[in-house]
Formats: sequence, C-alpha cells, structure tokens
Amino acid sequence: MTEVILEARNLGKSFGGVRAVDNFQMELKRSELIGLIGPNGAGKSTVFNLLSGAVKPTDGSINIFGKDMTGKKMVDFAQAGIARTFQNIRLLQEQTVSENVLSAMHKSANRHLFTNLFHTKSYKKQEKILREKVDSLLQTFSLLEKRDELAVNLSYGDQRRLEIIRALGTDPEILFLDEPAAGMNPAEGKELVRLIEQLQKEYNITVVLIEHDMDVVMDLCKRVMVLDYGKLIFSGTPQEVMESDAVRLAYLGDDIDD
Ligand SMILES: Nc1ncnc2c1ncn2[C@@H]1O[C@H](COP(=O)(O)OP(=O)(O)OP(=O)(O)O)[C@@H](O)[C@H]1O
Ligand SMILES: [Mg+2]
Repeated sequence: MTEVILEARNLGKSFGGVRAVDNFQMELKRSELIGLIGPNGAGKSTVFNLLSGAVKPTDGSINIFGKDMTGKKMVDFAQAGIARTFQNIRLLQEQTVSENVLSAMHKSANRHLFTNLFHTKSYKKQEKILREKVDSLLQTFSLLEKRDELAVNLSYGDQRRLEIIRALGTDPEILFLDEPAAGMNPAEGKELVRLIEQLQKEYNITVVLIEHDMDVVMDLCKRVMVLDYGKLIFSGTPQEVMESDAVRLAYLGDDIDD
C-alpha cells in the first residue's frame, strides 16, 4: 500500500461568521496528482492556506510525514516539504527571472545550510551549485533565455511558470498549485499540463492543483475533490466528478433541466 504522506482530519476555518472550510478530510499518497475544484468562494485557497501553514485551523489536525503540524508556522511546513504557489502571482517584479528563483532557494537554503557561511569557500561552492540548479529549472520550463529579464516584463503565462519554478526551488515533496493555468491561453495550458506531468515524474513530487479549467483537471488528475461552501461534497475520478449530480448542482444551482 502506498504511504500516506499528508493527512488532514476534520479541518475547519472560520473567519468571523464565515465558515470558509468545514470538516475537511484529505489523505495524500506519495506521487499522487489531485485536483481540488469548486465554485468561487468554496474555500479552496483556504484549504491551501491551512495545509501550508499560512493560516491556522480553527478545528482539526494536519499530519505531514507522520508529524503533527497543527498550529505550526509556514516555515515549519516548508521544512516539512510543502511548497505552494498563490492565486495572485507573487513575484519580485523588479528583479530578474534568475534572481527570483535564487531568492526563493536562498530562503530555504539559509534555513538548512548557510547560516554564517557568507563569503567562505563553502558558501561560494554552494552558490555555484544553486546557480546551476536555477539554470536547469529554467531550462525545463523554457525560460532560460529570459533569465536576465525583469519579472515585470514577462508575459502572464511566463510569470505563472516562474512562480512554479520558485516553489520547486525549495525542493518540495508536496506542491500546491493555486490556479496555475489562470490567464493562460489554451496552448499555454496544454504545455503546463505536460510540464506538471514531467516534473511529477522526474522529481517524484506529489501535486495538488486548484483549477477552474476542467480540461486541465481532466488531463492531469487521477482523483478530484470537490468543495462547496467549505465542505467536501464529492471525491472521485474526473469522469465520476463530471457525471455527479451533486457537483452539477453546486456549480449550476437549480439551473439543471437536462
Ligand atoms: N483572510 C480572510 N479573511 C476573511 N475571510 C476570508 C479570508 N480568506 C478567505 N475568506 C473567505 O472564506 C471563503 C472561502 O474563500 P477562498 O478564497 O478559500 O475560496 P476559493 O474557493 O479559493 O474561491 P476562488 O475560486 O474565488 O478563488 C470566502 O467567503 C472568503 O471571502
Ligand atoms: Mg481561491
């Protein structure tokens, strides 16, 4: 049986009177590629915020690689192997493509290795390794020739890809992608699907993806979870989800007549 690497139990989050996430359950197994879908405001991004330590749960527990992470900080989640991208792109707009990736790597490298090693031989050696890693990631995502361009000058699709590279730079075990294809044209969306499949295979990463584009979800995910008003209303294969009356009702309200 494949190992469960992340487990959320009875997870809940209230913002004042709003129950953004309610009694949410999730078990992630290594190398899974899961879709998380649901109407606007269903609580999808809040689930990612909870599972990456960006917000603390009101109820329930989170266990990652056998460790209880409930109430821990974002840096603890990062150290446990979690990386994520944001629905609203968060890049260092006035820095170059490669600086953006390097700074994300330094954040995690500083934590792991480098404290107080500035300008030593070992630091310089590490720096060289990091730069080679940046270039190899940029190559994979076809951004190497834009390594010296400012992030602000990239197309929207390139900015989304750069966000994913930044997340990968921290060597995560589990990657949460919040609407990675938003704003991309269909060709860019297809290319993104291919890339996610490739990196999932190459790095053996477990991926959870929030995505409104059902073509992307159908192409990529073996399992899809559906949220509505903070609650998990369905979980199944993409085909089962497409055929579910409960899911159609959530998306279309009472507007179903065929
Ligand atoms: N920091 C916050 N403070 C107050 N309310 C919040 C906060 N974050 C989310 N909410 C509320 O929680 C609910 C779920 O929001 P969330 O952003 O998780 O939904 P979503 O499924 O990601 O929606 P979308 O598809 O529009 O991105 C919404 O009612 C939202 O207004
Ligand atoms: Mg969202």
